[in-house]
Amino acid sequence: MTDLSVEVCGLKLRNPTMLASGVLDETGKSMVEVAKSGAGAIVTKSVGSTPREGHGTPSVVELENGLLNAMGLPNPGIDLYSEEIEIALTAGVPVIGSVFGGTEDEIASLAAKMEGTGVHAVELNLSCPHARGYGAEIGSTPELVESICRKAKSRTSIPIFAKLTPNTPSIGDLALAAERGGADAVVAINTLKGMAISPEARMPILANKVGGLSGPAIKPVGVRCVFEIHEAVDIPVIGVGGIASGRDAVEYIMAGASAVQIGTAVWMHGPGIFSKVSGEVLKFMKENSYSKVKDMVGVAHADGR
Ligand code: DHB
Repeated sequence: MTDLSVEVCGLKLRNPTMLASGVLDETGKSMVEVAKSGAGAIVTKSVGSTPREGHGTPSVVELENGLLNAMGLPNPGIDLYSEEIEIALTAGVPVIGSVFGGTEDEIASLAAKMEGTGVHAVELNLSCPHARGYGAEIGSTPELVESICRKAKSRTSIPIFAKLTPNTPSIGDLALAAERGGADAVVAINTLKGMAISPEARMPILANKVGGLSGPAIKPVGVRCVFEIHEAVDIPVIGVGGIASGRDAVEYIMAGASAVQIGTAVWMHGPGIFSKVSGEVLKFMKENSYSKVKDMVGVAHADGR
């Protein structure tokens, strides 16, 4: 028997795919739809303490091989959004609540509030590439990553995932800091900082000028980051960045990911991508005599870790 199910930090997933934060997660209804389409788990929209409008438009640029976006973390705030989470929780798959904040105290109290909504784990967005004072600005210093994780852990009793930025010289050091701070897993990678310019307008296309690059273009960066993190820490890694096929997912798993997240491919191809990716992973496992996903984790490392 070939078994697609995985267990990550005690969360039981029927297959190794999760919806990445930021796509089709505006409402409880859309998250339920994504679960119905085959996602093994759902990560919610990143929410903060208060409602936030986000950046002006254009906020997304479609590129040949990916997406560049600077939404600016628009969200209704955790109090209003908890109504959507309540609906998402009826989907019957694990729900991971994503939060962002400007200080470690704010992030820790958001994590505690998020736990109160009934989610199964919290993902700390330590890696938005451009919203000033949030995300990667605080998530690129190992000492801060460690203290944020420690404080969030002290206020919660469910697993804490730290979503890390690739915009750093050593993502292994960030992962190690998250592990030292008590994070139960790391998620890698968030988007890469990028820019697109309109030659006719002679100016950056995004209203925010700088945005986060996602999609197929960043897959090799994500695979390299997961590979490095797997060598640096013992906690599970969740791989994300440019996954649109079973082979993409298997690459991440062999680099060391225990599960994967899919975002841009959902935006590009719709929620049917989850059953497509899972089906292709299953086919690969059958053809290569793997009975469990776990048996593929990290096999690309020479020492088999
Ligand atoms: C945004 C947030 C992110 O974490 C990211 O990677 C890209 C964009 C945003 O809301 O703008």
